[in-house]
Amino acid sequence: MSNQINHVAIIMDGNGRWAKQRGLSRTKGHEEGCKRIIEIFDAVKANHIYAMTLYAFSTENWNRPKSEISLLFRYLDKFFKDNIVTFMKDGIRVQVMGDISRLPKHSQKTVTDAINKTKDNDNYVFNIALNYGSRQELVKATKEIAQEVKDGKLDIDSIDMDTISNHLYTKNLPPVDLMIRTSGEQRLSNYLLYQLAYSEFIFTPIYWPDFHKEDFEECLKQYQNRDRRYGKIEE
Ligand code: IPE
Ligand code: IPE
Ligand code: MG
Repeated sequence: MSNQINHVAIIMDGNGRWAKQRGLSRTKGHEEGCKRIIEIFDAVKANHIYAMTLYAFSTENWNRPKSEISLLFRYLDKFFKDNIVTFMKDGIRVQVMGDISRLPKHSQKTVTDAINKTKDNDNYVFNIALNYGSRQELVKATKEIAQEVKDGKLDIDSIDMDTISNHLYTKNLPPVDLMIRTSGEQRLSNYLLYQLAYSEFIFTPIYWPDFHKEDFEECLKQYQNRDRRYGKIEE
């Protein structure tokens, strides 16, 4: 039985350790890591996976040195500038999760331009988490729902799981089938806490800059051997 994947979520981790291993600066790791994004997204498309959600910058990553943060956002700009033609050609819609108002002005512009330009594309979705935290996302959703109740637009008794899903950044995307984290860390680091309730997880020791197409394909193979029971038992 083959399990079709509609949505894969990735925590790209290990850039710093990859660089350290080679005696390079951490930012070299981010630069190399950026090259893997499009390589993996190509594999996503080749496998007819509709959406990819990538963790690129967490709400906690602001606690890093300013110089590292600033270069990270420069690489992000370059990434979008280099790939916007491909996004248009392949019908890819860019979506962002997180509060981008705290990003450097130049990145806000790059990201907003990419979102606006690709908004009518619907072959694939490239969803990137920037200044994203899942707990913050749930707080935001709760406030929005409370406001609707207060305004008399929503009845408390009608609040259900769909109400919550519809207030998350992922509202227009299919459920996450598979979550992959690179670099060996086995934690979620404030990523998609609600959305991953029934997703399959793969933790690979490979550092993100070393994570190539073949490694992604290997994860897809592993996923095919998973038995997603959703609480049921075999008939
Ligand atoms: C992931 O790599 C990229 C970001 C979090 C922005 P890291 O920078 O976390 O690399 P490690 O975990 O320190 O090796
Ligand atoms: C999670 O990685 C965030 C991103 C990959 C963008 P971190 O490297 O920031 O997570 P921790 O600190 O190891 O939990
Ligand atoms: Mg890390």
